[in-house]
Amino acid sequence: MESNNFALVTQNLTKHFDHFIAVDDVSFSVHRGEIYGLLGPNGAGKTTTIRLLLGLLTPTSGNGMVLGFDIVKQAEEIRRRIGYVSQKFSLYADLTTAENFDFYSGIYGVPRKTIPERREKLFEMVGLSGQGNERVTGLAGGSRQRLALACALSHEPEFLFLDEPTAGVDPISRRNLWDLVYDLAARGTSILVTTHYMDEAENCHRIAFIYRGKIVAEGTPHEMKTKQMLEQVLEIDTDQADVALGVLRESNLFDEVALYGTMIHAIGHEVGEKIPQVRDILQSKNVSVKSADVIVPSLEDVFIARLRNVDMNEK
Ligand SMILES: Nc1ncnc2c1ncn2[C@@H]1O[C@H](COP(=O)(O)OP(=O)(O)OP(=O)(O)O)[C@@H](O)[C@H]1O
Ligand SMILES: [Mg+2]
Repeated sequence: MESNNFALVTQNLTKHFDHFIAVDDVSFSVHRGEIYGLLGPNGAGKTTTIRLLLGLLTPTSGNGMVLGFDIVKQAEEIRRRIGYVSQKFSLYADLTTAENFDFYSGIYGVPRKTIPERREKLFEMVGLSGQGNERVTGLAGGSRQRLALACALSHEPEFLFLDEPTAGVDPISRRNLWDLVYDLAARGTSILVTTHYMDEAENCHRIAFIYRGKIVAEGTPHEMKTKQMLEQVLEIDTDQADVALGVLRESNLFDEVALYGTMIHAIGHEVGEKIPQVRDILQSKNVSVKSADVIVPSLEDVFIARLRNVDMNEK
């Protein structure tokens, strides 16, 4: 397998748990210094994919290389060179931030003498300078995630795996965390990040939509919105979005009708031609239409449309 230009390559990766297929024929690659996002709903197979790539689970079939090492035969080599902030990353609540860092550095094999220097540098980078003596119990969610990131970076890994790093974190902390991720990537660290926040996926260089264990679309965020979408999106602004939602779903005019904030997004083909009909139907239910325009789809629209195709094909 040619993997020189790639930090990660996996082909036909598959994992069965008894009769359940958690990861189904997944193939993708990550360039060095690239931020690659795996985007998918709960249970899609994101965490299982990461665990397979790090040799924490054995694939049922398929193969993969991370940093040039085989995910089945050379998992030790991989784990030594990567950082992993798992979804259930555990910090020791009754230890201080510095003690947590030193503990993880030890596990990652950082020479004892270099730990304080690394700690200072990384705490500075993640914004925890001067907080070395604080116990984790007293830290807010965003600070905990930044400490987890510092711990995962203690051995200066070439590849960072982040499994939903911003779940439950406030918007400003999320922004800070993404800024850190950009800095790392700019310095050559390759990054695989999972999320189910659509807006966060926009931060990635490339993304894959994963659903029921399968990659259903892949590309840059821009490509996803321009090339992966065969349908069009009609954005409708009404005075009663909830009523309009039900009426439009029942009308069967569109493939999919979803609420998007206070707007309605109706997905289908030749949606522009349906505007007069939409106005008529809604008016007959006393819903007034403020505007109805064909718009550039959001990532969420694309995702909804792709998932629908998967569900339809399975019927
Ligand atoms: N060890 C296991 N044994 C059996 N089933 C499992 C096991 N691990 C995961 N699964 C199942 O595989 C599917 C994919 O799980 P996974 O944790 O990879 O999803 P995910 O995309 O990370 O979801 P979330 O967003 O909730 O973290 C789920 O249905 C899960 O219940
Ligand atoms: Mg998960």
